[in-house]
Amino acid sequence: MGISRATLADAHRLSALAIETFPLACPPGTTAENIELFCTEKLSPEAFEAYMSEGRYRIWIAEENGSLHGYVMSVSGEPEDPDIAGAVVHRPTVEVSKIYVLTDAHGSGLSDLLMDTAVDNARTGGAASVWLGVNQLNDRANRFYAKHGFELVGERSFQVGDSLEADFVREKVL
Ligand SMILES: CC(C)(COP(=O)(O)OP(=O)(O)OC[C@H]1O[C@@H](n2cnc3c(N)ncnc32)[C@H](O)[C@@H]1OP(=O)(O)O)[C@@H](O)C(=O)NCCC(=O)NCCS
Repeated sequence: MGISRATLADAHRLSALAIETFPLACPPGTTAENIELFCTEKLSPEAFEAYMSEGRYRIWIAEENGSLHGYVMSVSGEPEDPDIAGAVVHRPTVEVSKIYVLTDAHGSGLSDLLMDTAVDNARTGGAASVWLGVNQLNDRANRFYAKHGFELVGERSFQVGDSLEADFVREKVL
């Protein structure tokens, strides 16, 4: 499995992977309509092209035999949400905004490789911490982040379609 930085040429297959894996992170009550709204707005090929055309977004993909198995996206800069800016203590900080791996590769170590890539890049760039938001009901992801040293520092609301979901905010000091 190779990890590499995504380029504009990856936007379509990245979008397909993101749309396939996004429902895995949603709590059981999330409606299909709200998932579709989120995917259309935030995970389309055009959305990924827009992320990649801005310097503060970085995306890495995990690829084997021409197929994508997972991706991670980080965003540098001051958190815009005041709940997050208040909860995250250290500056400068980088958000690990998305980490999604196909079900078959869960528990394989691939997620660790992707996380380490994003965290190492933030550290090299001078970040004092990395932070993320995670649904409070996503037990597997919360366990994974705790294993990676992300401590609970607060809560925020996260919009999926017309629904506001309850997230934990976690920070890892570098
Ligand atoms: C979150 C994600 C990247 C983690 O990667 P992973 O390969 O599954 O992670 P790991 O297997 O290393 O770690 C998960 C831990 O949760 C544990 N776990 C699994 N199911 C669990 C559950 N239902 N409740 C609590 N813990 C659980 C695992 O046993 C493991 O802990 P361990 O290593 O101590 O045994 C991956 O599961 C994923 O892509 N999920 C779908 C998308 C998602 O939720 N992304 C995060 C959005 S914030």
